[in-house]
Amino acid sequence: MCGVVGGVSERNMVPIILEGLSRLEYRGYDSAGITVIGSSNKLARQRVTGRVEELAKICGNENFRGLCGIGHTRWATHGGVTIDNAHPHFSNDKIALVHNGIIENYAPIREELKAKGYEFKSETDTEVIVHLIHSLYVTNKNLLLSVKEATKQLHGAYAIGVMCVDNPDEMVCARLGAPLILGLGIGEMFFASDISALLPVTQKVVYLEDGDVAIITRAGYKVYDAHDKEIFRKPNISELSVTQTELNGYRHYMQKEIFEQPDAIAQTLQSLGNSFNTNVFGRDAGKIFKQIDQVQIIACGTSYNAGMVAKYWIEDFAGLECRVDIASEYRYSKPPKRPNTLIVSLSQSGETADTLASVKYAHELGMTNTLAICNVAESSLTRLSKLSILTQAGPEIGVASTKAFTTQLVVLLYLANTLAMTKGHLTSNDAEARIRQMRCLPQLIIDTLKLEEQLKLIAKEMEYKQHALFLGRNTLYPIAVEGSLKLKEISYIHAEAYAAGELKHGPLALIDKEMPAIILMPGNLLHDKVKSNVQEVLARQGVVYLFTDTEEDVTAKCHRVVKMPENIAEYLLPIIYTIPLQLLSYHTAITKGTDVDKPRNLAKSVTVE
Ligand code: AGP
Repeated sequence: MCGVVGGVSERNMVPIILEGLSRLEYRGYDSAGITVIGSSNKLARQRVTGRVEELAKICGNENFRGLCGIGHTRWATHGGVTIDNAHPHFSNDKIALVHNGIIENYAPIREELKAKGYEFKSETDTEVIVHLIHSLYVTNKNLLLSVKEATKQLHGAYAIGVMCVDNPDEMVCARLGAPLILGLGIGEMFFASDISALLPVTQKVVYLEDGDVAIITRAGYKVYDAHDKEIFRKPNISELSVTQTELNGYRHYMQKEIFEQPDAIAQTLQSLGNSFNTNVFGRDAGKIFKQIDQVQIIACGTSYNAGMVAKYWIEDFAGLECRVDIASEYRYSKPPKRPNTLIVSLSQSGETADTLASVKYAHELGMTNTLAICNVAESSLTRLSKLSILTQAGPEIGVASTKAFTTQLVVLLYLANTLAMTKGHLTSNDAEARIRQMRCLPQLIIDTLKLEEQLKLIAKEMEYKQHALFLGRNTLYPIAVEGSLKLKEISYIHAEAYAAGELKHGPLALIDKEMPAIILMPGNLLHDKVKSNVQEVLARQGVVYLFTDTEEDVTAKCHRVVKMPENIAEYLLPIIYTIPLQLLSYHTAITKGTDVDKPRNLAKSVTVE
């Protein structure tokens, strides 16, 4: 969480940093700050609690400019949301620093520095880094060396950008466990948490590795690896463009991303090709898929919900046992060490701290057949895993994940079928039929998006609700979970999801005429079972919002029925039933007037534990 950006240039860095910060705001938006080295070689700083927009207002002063600068947008961890805790932090008005991550051993370092006379002005863990660097700089007078020595003493995660008034032509950056890239311009050089921040100035980037320390000047960059060896990190040209990260006429990123799903899925399908082919997962995938006898999925949040759907597919199609764990649980659990396990990690960002730690943990346990399904090329997760595959969703900026989820489902469905083929559970005729069905997805989603007006009506009824219950069975159960997560995340309505069969085991006690029950009832094998659950809710005056493709007696008694597209292949249902639930939460948030793209207390990329 938190976004960092900065650089050394031949032009004023203030507008570049402000633009970068607004593009990084999805990472945290409690407070923001910027520091430049001004013409008199002094540090000049502006900080606000709140949004980058507010920061921009106070940076308008002509005199607030500099060719060397750093900026930060914060998601508070250590210390409340105050100006003093906002970055950049200074040491002795000489060195300024921005940081994303958490320093776990900050307390003893702080005590040592205090004993040396350093005065702390914030409650953050970050302030120890800047004073530590300063304490080393006092003797060695070399910023690069000081950062190298200081980072050796830090435990935890960091992506930092540091500058010193003694040399406004250079800047030092370092990363461990938090993302950081360099951006290469002509006569200017930048750093940032991710490429989106730098797209207006360059598409040429260098991905730093864990343990790297880099020095940048207008003329170039040098990188030193974790063993302090100078190393060449090759520049890459990003395929992302500025327009991909803009609203392009939509009111919110979430809305844009919901409506981009037909395209995102079409792109993802195109990247997968016309048959179930192990090669798309990486060169060794064929060999690995043959070896494995179970699958372990690891993820957080929405990505975890996608994993829960995949469990049904993998066990059904490929006959392989599949476990799904929340990454923050898996990393501290004691799973059986079974080397023939395919460890599948799911992540939109590829930077989620718990997911990364879980994959590392699996490696330590000897389970090295790791596959990352991720939306960001060159993310920490893809680089960490033996095999990787990208969802082609394009940048997802809204905190609530939408197109990343449905494209993950597409890749997982493809994976389940590829495993089924490898294990001899899928005939080539069935494989062709499934590929054909999957190709219908973009059009099916276009049709489903047309339900929007009905969902706006339901959203209006949700406005004053305190609670909501989501129910589904089989692959629609994780979709109920995902629907409830979306609703609570952006509209702040308490929502819970249950496997519909669990109703009688407790949640039925919650049903009364105030409780909306959102029930997913496709006309599939379990239709009659869900129908009984609908009856149970109706018998207790529950308010049923039914999502179904069938018409029958029970629908007449429901408060509202959303008629879903008919004749959809069973395994495509979870993808299609996700769409109206996304629209429902989006419009409920709009009705309630919450901040859809930046819901309170949340950040897009959870890079801390
Ligand atoms: C979903 O709407 C959330 N914002 C959140 O649960 C998210 O899916 C989770 O933090 C995992 O992120 P990742 O996919 O980038 O790893």
